[in-house]
Amino acid sequence: MKALVLCGGSGTRLRPITHTTAKQLVPVANKPVLYYGLEAIAEAGITDVGIVVGETSREIKQAVEDGNRWGLNVSYIFQDKPLGLAHAVLVSEEYIAGDEFVMYLGDNLIRDGIKACVDQYRENRPNCQILLAHVPEPQRFGVAELEGGKVVRLVEKPDVPPSDLALVGVYMFDGSIMDAVKAIKPSGRGELEITDAIQWLIDQGFTVDPHVIDGWWKDTGRLEDMLEANRIMLEDVEPSSHGHVDSASDVVGRVVVEKGAEVIGSTIRGPAVIGEGTKIINSFIGPYTAIYYGVTISGSEIEHSIILENSTVTDIPGRIEDSLIGQNVEVARSPLKPAAFRLMLGDNSRVGLL
Ligand code: G1P
Repeated sequence: MKALVLCGGSGTRLRPITHTTAKQLVPVANKPVLYYGLEAIAEAGITDVGIVVGETSREIKQAVEDGNRWGLNVSYIFQDKPLGLAHAVLVSEEYIAGDEFVMYLGDNLIRDGIKACVDQYRENRPNCQILLAHVPEPQRFGVAELEGGKVVRLVEKPDVPPSDLALVGVYMFDGSIMDAVKAIKPSGRGELEITDAIQWLIDQGFTVDPHVIDGWWKDTGRLEDMLEANRIMLEDVEPSSHGHVDSASDVVGRVVVEKGAEVIGSTIRGPAVIGEGTKIINSFIGPYTAIYYGVTISGSEIEHSIILENSTVTDIPGRIEDSLIGQNVEVARSPLKPAAFRLMLGDNSRVGLL
C-alpha cells in the first residue's frame, strides 16, 4: 500500500501567510502541519509516499526531502494546476501503478493518526474507505449520507447538508478510483472533485465503507482552525528546557523551551512552546502560544497565538491574543510624532486595533 499526500492548493483562506508559505508548512505547536500527517502515515506502516506538489513545490521539497527522517521513501509528483483532488489522483496514475493507496490531504490534522482506519481497510478490503467525522458546520465540507452503515450519497459543500458527517481529508482506494477520476466532469468551482469520483464508485456498485472517527480532527485551512489545532496539540507537549531561563523569569505549566532560546525577566505560562534561538525579554507569554524560531519578543504580552520565524514584537502596550503573525514581521510601538498607527500590511491581512 502506498500513500499520496496532497500539498498543492494555494491556501487562499490563510492569506497573507500563504503568499510566502505553503499552507501545509504552517507550524502547529512549532511543527509543520504536514509533518503530523507524515508521522501518521509512517505509524500506519506505509513507507512509499508520493507527495503531489504545485506552486509551492520548492518549499515542500526543502522541508521533507527524501522522507528518510520518518523512515519514508518520498517521491514528488508535479501537478501544474490545482484542478481538484481527483485531478491530483489522475496525475499520480503512474506512481500509484494500480496499487492500493491512502490519500491524505496535507493540511489535515488527525490527532489519533490513521493506523486504526488503515488496519480496517486492510482487513475488509473494500474498493474505497472514507473517513467521516461529526461536525457542527457540515456545509463547509464534503458530506456523507449513510443508510444501514453503508455510504449511499456524498455531496460537496451542500447548502442543505443531508447529515452532520463531514468527509475528513483521508481516503483509501484501490485501482477502481482511476476509472472514477477519468469518468467525472469538473464541478461548479471548476475542479475534479474526489467527492464526485467516490459517488461514481457508489453508483457503479463498488463498495465504499465509512470509518467514523470520534477523535479530534481539523482541516487547518483558516486562522481560527490553526489556532484551535495549535491549542489542542499544545495540550500534549511534554515540558522540557534546552534553552536558558534566567532567575528573574517564571516558567509555569507545560512549557517547551527549545535549544538556544532565552527567557529573560519574563513569565511563560503554558501550554506554550518557545522556539530555537528565540528571545523572550521582559514579556508575558500566556497559554496556547507557539513561538517559532529566531523570534524576539520584548516588553510585550502574547496569548493564544502563533508567531512564525524571525519576527519581532517590541513594547506593545495591550495584550496580543488570537493572532497569527507571519515570518519576518515587525510589530513595534513607535515613538514618532504625530502619534499614529503606521502599518505596512500584506494583501488580505487582518488587524484588530484597540
Ligand atoms: C476538501 C474536500 C472536502 C473535504 C475537505 C476536508 O475540501 O473537497 O470534501 O471535506 O477537503 O479537509 P477543500 O479543502 O478542498 O475545500
